[in-house]
Amino acid sequence: MTTPLQNRRILLIIGGGIAAYKSLELIRRLRERGASVRAVLTGAGAEFVTPLSLGTLTGDKVYRDLFDLTDNAAIGHIELSRDADLLVVVPATADLLAKMAHGLAGDLATTLLLATDKPTLVAPAMNVRMWEHKATQRNVAQLKADGIHFIGPNDGDMACGEFGPGRMSEPAEILAAIESHFSGKSVTGKAPLKGIRVLVTSGPTHEPIDPVRYLANRSSGKQGYAIATALARLGADVTLVSGPTNLPSPAGIMMKRVETAREMLAACEASLPADVAICAAAVADWRVDVDATQKIKKKPGAKTPALTLVENPDILATISKLKKNRPALVVGFAAETEKVVEHAIAKRKRKGCDWIVANDVSPESGVMGGDLNTVHLIRADGQDDWPQLPKQAVADRLAQSVLEHIQKTRKSTKKRTR
Ligand code: CTP
Repeated sequence: MTTPLQNRRILLIIGGGIAAYKSLELIRRLRERGASVRAVLTGAGAEFVTPLSLGTLTGDKVYRDLFDLTDNAAIGHIELSRDADLLVVVPATADLLAKMAHGLAGDLATTLLLATDKPTLVAPAMNVRMWEHKATQRNVAQLKADGIHFIGPNDGDMACGEFGPGRMSEPAEILAAIESHFSGKSVTGKAPLKGIRVLVTSGPTHEPIDPVRYLANRSSGKQGYAIATALARLGADVTLVSGPTNLPSPAGIMMKRVETAREMLAACEASLPADVAICAAAVADWRVDVDATQKIKKKPGAKTPALTLVENPDILATISKLKKNRPALVVGFAAETEKVVEHAIAKRKRKGCDWIVANDVSPESGVMGGDLNTVHLIRADGQDDWPQLPKQAVADRLAQSVLEHIQKTRKSTKKRTR
């Protein structure tokens, strides 16, 4: 039987706390389910578990020091974190959380956590007063905003003799959170968007010139895929209509792969009705009027061929202006290279969508193809300016805004019907 963990690569970072012993049980269970585990032991972690036990259970080298990685046989730290499908921190101490929140990278564990572009799950464990301290809570809020996933801590008796929140989740709970992650479900097991149908468009479109050439753009699809994943984790029933990308299909999502803008529109129409539509695709505005059936050949002495372009259908505007089956919430993106907010406000009105997520895609921003994004969420009645965030964190915030909007709408409908 294949499990969601089959062939998954987990990078397990073991912090310095009494709960570190639970990492041994977690490794055993992860490996039983087909995952491979690489262990990274912090200096403080080594006071609680030995490299020998970790190495025996992972069947791999235990990584401890940044400078271990400089010998030729060892892999570099970037590779070590990029090679994983998920980073898991057990236990995540107050000190580790603070370092992560501030982007410190003084040792191997924190360097890996800063160098990664992979999802990260942390299992905090600390004394109750340390957990409840304003500084820790500030760090936790920052890390959640950055898209870091949390499991626990639980309430209970603590090794220090006190009682309260701060006890690390049990290996079985952490294992369940990891399994949920890989099956596309919420890490916390909650599904507040259950029953909500969401249509997401993503990626570029390719507009053929002839059988071997096409017009395209630099969109990677990362933002749209992250949005689809974030919504599915909240329990939504997501259809992702994607142009050509190199990204794997996210788990737990209905995937429709298309090439051209017209195919994308047809796939979207076939996916309605939906409660929410989020158009994150970088749809080509134009296509070539006649797509040659044979490769266009160079002819000696002949003029360079001129391409005549015709306008593609506007998918966002079409969905926004539907008379029948219009999703209750339609969200567009505004990719701008100057006057970002001003152009986006005008674009929201012109296209008729409810919200527009404006972002700067000028070459200096590095957004196209990169992992970071700085966006403004523009509604009819105002705007939120978000700081620069990883695309996954932008997706989590957008999914959270959709959830809050739906909850508010539900409440006001209930009031009206009372
Ligand atoms: N969009 C669409 N279909 C198109 C063009 C754009 O659905 N044919 C959607 C995009 O998915 C995005 C929004 O419209 O949600 C804005 O896309 P953008 O490229 O910023 O705007 P354009 O309409 O292309 O306008 P311009 O190029 O003039 O900025």
